[in-house]
Amino acid sequence: MEMTPERWAATERYAAEVFGEADLVLQAISAAAAAAGLPDIAVSAEEGRLLMILTSMTPGRLAVEVGALGGYSGTWIARGLAPEGRLITIEIDPRHADVAEAAFRAAGVDDKVELRRGAALDVLPSLAGELGPGSVDVAFIDAHKIEYPDYFRLLEPLIAPGGLFLADNVYGTGGAWIDQADSNPGMAAVDRLNRMVAEHPDFEAVAVPIRTGLLIARRHQ
Ligand SMILES: C[S@@+](CC[C@H](N)C(=O)[O-])C[C@H]1O[C@@H](n2cnc3c(N)ncnc32)[C@H](O)[C@@H]1O
Repeated sequence: MEMTPERWAATERYAAEVFGEADLVLQAISAAAAAAGLPDIAVSAEEGRLLMILTSMTPGRLAVEVGALGGYSGTWIARGLAPEGRLITIEIDPRHADVAEAAFRAAGVDDKVELRRGAALDVLPSLAGELGPGSVDVAFIDAHKIEYPDYFRLLEPLIAPGGLFLADNVYGTGGAWIDQADSNPGMAAVDRLNRMVAEHPDFEAVAVPIRTGLLIARRHQ
């Protein structure tokens, strides 16, 4: 059966209908982000659910997210953590950070989520010193596409054996797709990340075509 644009759109609608259920708390987080005028670029409910499932398949002690927006994906990840687990999420935009912190309070996960304000490339090096090598069970990046290879370079030493490195938009974004990597600098950076992770001897990696593509890479035990 040929995959046509129409069939892909129908598949996405089907996935949202069958797997995209989000409870009232998550719906309220989406509504609050929209009401605050944040861009509609959070992960979908089914991708959020996948982030939660993946997190819960690790020991779930420590997760790091790059790009909090309104706290939607962070809330899904926080729900997959162990009872004592915590999430550190990094956000450059103070308005987004305020909305995200309110979302974590509304979801009742503010005791396990800490938001760090600033540019990821400024925050991550100090975070690396603070957390230490092999301390992170889940790293999820969803911020500035041009910086994706640098996020991996900085996060990779922190990822525990058996831990996960996850990246959103690895097949495309609203503005460009991975087959345009030759002409689009953002997609060229994403392509570099995909290849860098796929070729890394310590990781097993694949990208699943959920929404705009989620890279899932697991460090060998
Ligand atoms: C696609 S949104 C994140 C969506 C969020 N992960 C979710 O699904 O709910 C990207 C976020 O990254 C933030 N961002 C962009 N560049 C950044 C940077 N260099 N450092 C930290 N955050 C950044 C943006 O302000 C925005 O809030």
